[in-house]
Amino acid sequence: MKNPGNWYLNVVQQTVRIAPSILSADFARLGDEIRAIDEAGCDYIHVDVMDGHFVPNITMGPPILGKLKPHTAKPFDVHLMIAPVDHLLDAFIVAGSDIITVHIEASPHTHRTLQAIKAAGLKAGVSLNPQTPASAVAHVMDLVDLVLVMSVNPGFGGQSFIESSLDKIAELRAMIDATGRTIDLEVDGGVTPETAPRVVAAGADVLVAGTAVFKDGLAGYAANIAALRG
Ligand code: DX5
Ligand code: ZN
Repeated sequence: MKNPGNWYLNVVQQTVRIAPSILSADFARLGDEIRAIDEAGCDYIHVDVMDGHFVPNITMGPPILGKLKPHTAKPFDVHLMIAPVDHLLDAFIVAGSDIITVHIEASPHTHRTLQAIKAAGLKAGVSLNPQTPASAVAHVMDLVDLVLVMSVNPGFGGQSFIESSLDKIAELRAMIDATGRTIDLEVDGGVTPETAPRVVAAGADVLVAGTAVFKDGLAGYAANIAALRG
């Protein structure tokens, strides 16, 4: 008889965390919106920073981030869709970021940027666009606390989930497990109650969702977050 403990060792109880993307929130009431998703049970606040250069959209920067910080104690999961990055890093650190995620495509020196984020005492994340292979982050896996898989082309909310992301998520789950380190595997873009189960089954443990959380207005936030946890 096989060792009865084996099955237990393979049943990893993944606690799925939910990071609502405030890109889909009411920008005219961002403080209220952040308090609302906090009270609705989110785990992280996902802040999409866009510069109109790395992605064809512009959102917010350190001044707004700093004003939002007092409205919640939940971690600010800051997704920098900007290039270059390094000249603005200190401002995002001072503004109150808890996790800063940079795109591996945004600089030839992402390793050094990640070192700087860690040196400031924050958690460091690296993100991959849909066309970027998992292997692109192989040599920063010893540095990062989070890997962010873009399951849409970054720049806008409300897009459709790119199905080929599932293979990349599984590949990165294996890469993360091989490190023996604690690294969040976060997925971002087109995550809904329909796609979430497949994303988690592929190995993700943090789900970013904008439209799926904010679509029904304030009254729906708690139910929408719960629906993503499955
Ligand atoms: C896209 C952003 C995502 C986006 C997710 O560039 O990085 O966080 O806001 O929005 P949904 O969940 O609507 O796809
Ligand atoms: Zn994002």
